[in-house]
Amino acid sequence: MTDSKVYNDYFFDEPIFDLHDGGYVPLEKADVPDQPLNIPAALEPDKVDGNDVYYTITAQEGETQILPGAKTKTWGYNASLLGQTIVLKKGVHYHVHLVNKLSEVTTFHWHGLNVTGPIVDGGPHAPVYPDGSRDIDFTLDQPAQTDWIHPHPCPNTARQVWNGLAAAVVVTDDEEAKLPLPRNYGVDDIPVILQDRTYHDNQLDYKKDYDVDGTLGKYALVNGTINGVFNVTTQKVRLRILDGSDRREWRLHFDDNHEFTQIASDGGILPEPVKFTKLMLTCAERAEVIVDFGDKKPGDVVTLMSDDMPIMKFKIGQYAADDSKLPEHLTTIDAPKVTPGLPVTKTVMSGMDDQVRLDGKLFDMQRIDRKQKIGDTVLWDVVNTNDMDGGMIHPFHMHGCQFLVISRNGKEPYPNEHGWKDTVGVNAGETVRLAVQFTKFGVYMYHCHILEHEDTGMMAQIEAYDPNEKHEYHLLSMDEMNHPKK
Ligand code: C2O
Ligand code: CU
Ligand code: CU
Repeated sequence: MTDSKVYNDYFFDEPIFDLHDGGYVPLEKADVPDQPLNIPAALEPDKVDGNDVYYTITAQEGETQILPGAKTKTWGYNASLLGQTIVLKKGVHYHVHLVNKLSEVTTFHWHGLNVTGPIVDGGPHAPVYPDGSRDIDFTLDQPAQTDWIHPHPCPNTARQVWNGLAAAVVVTDDEEAKLPLPRNYGVDDIPVILQDRTYHDNQLDYKKDYDVDGTLGKYALVNGTINGVFNVTTQKVRLRILDGSDRREWRLHFDDNHEFTQIASDGGILPEPVKFTKLMLTCAERAEVIVDFGDKKPGDVVTLMSDDMPIMKFKIGQYAADDSKLPEHLTTIDAPKVTPGLPVTKTVMSGMDDQVRLDGKLFDMQRIDRKQKIGDTVLWDVVNTNDMDGGMIHPFHMHGCQFLVISRNGKEPYPNEHGWKDTVGVNAGETVRLAVQFTKFGVYMYHCHILEHEDTGMMAQIEAYDPNEKHEYHLLSMDEMNHPKK
């Protein structure tokens, strides 16, 4: 950056922050002693054979000590809660054995990965039945970024995530490896998965807490830990922040207004670092930020807040001085040129509660709502028609691609929206223009990422087609997805 501007606002339209909704559940301080922040283990491959790497991912039930007293029944991927972090490298061919040890159907969706839909991508057309499994493989062909996996079985995505299914996916590549960034996983490079839950006698009760406009919980959890503390042992720490909540927007800042620098958005490294004291994430968005604790001394504690609630602490320990400087230019985004002669695709998110619709319709698994030719770059105008008062932000997400944000109501996107993204918060009454390109043929979902809106049917599907090759897709009905044919 030429100047060292530090932004001090959340950019989004304050009048529609989720706290103004009738069903809003404010965060409360949990009566739980500080405890070490859970850092999910990195998933070990089953086998590495040259450029072929094999993993098994198991959706399972378990019990987790979240609150003092009885353990909470939770779900996770190779873990009792959330999951082990899956580290992938560009260019490697992955073979993944997906196992369902739950007592109901689930799917394994790779949110942010550029893999083919509707099967490898793990949307609702790729069910894995109880005690069943599915094998997928893909060659990773996208830049370093932070993605995640979560279930996607309509209409039970929200409840399954609520129960605990979500894991970070860290993509690495040679270009990112050259940047002077912390990347020692678990030490100076950690996932920060933001979620909120309410407990009833230490247990989750999704039905009880359910809100058709998005379920909120009373307590903030980071990586499944309430009042987590991370021991800082390096001057700089890289946080891979993910809004993994069903509904909550996080308005992050430090208690001492400590500055931090965003270096990556959903789809990878930003062209230039962006400095903030405040950062808002809507559901499913990711931000990688660097926090430089160089002004702190051992024993200091810095608290990460959302609104006025503490959500986790950083306890500063001994660290070696690190005077490495972030370059002003981090990467070059190879923005594809918009294909001439094509109309702008307009897609409309409307309504609240059970009236939410995408393009006026509810999701139908057997209906292809749109088509777009692979390789074409098409402008999409994503409209949120909710009006200002009583409106809400709908986070718009697309599978199978990373897009660029071109404008918000005709104006510049936010300063941290100059990189690749797959999820974008659309304010009430706003039109966000995207440039969208698919590179792989397939059928992909696009939807609001408030999970209860998605489950209600604020979702549609697009076929990315190859004009030289016809592909047939067997699109399951919701019934077939939920009840396997015997
Ligand atoms: Cu995060 Cu359709 O998914
Ligand atoms: Cu997704
Ligand atoms: Cu929505």
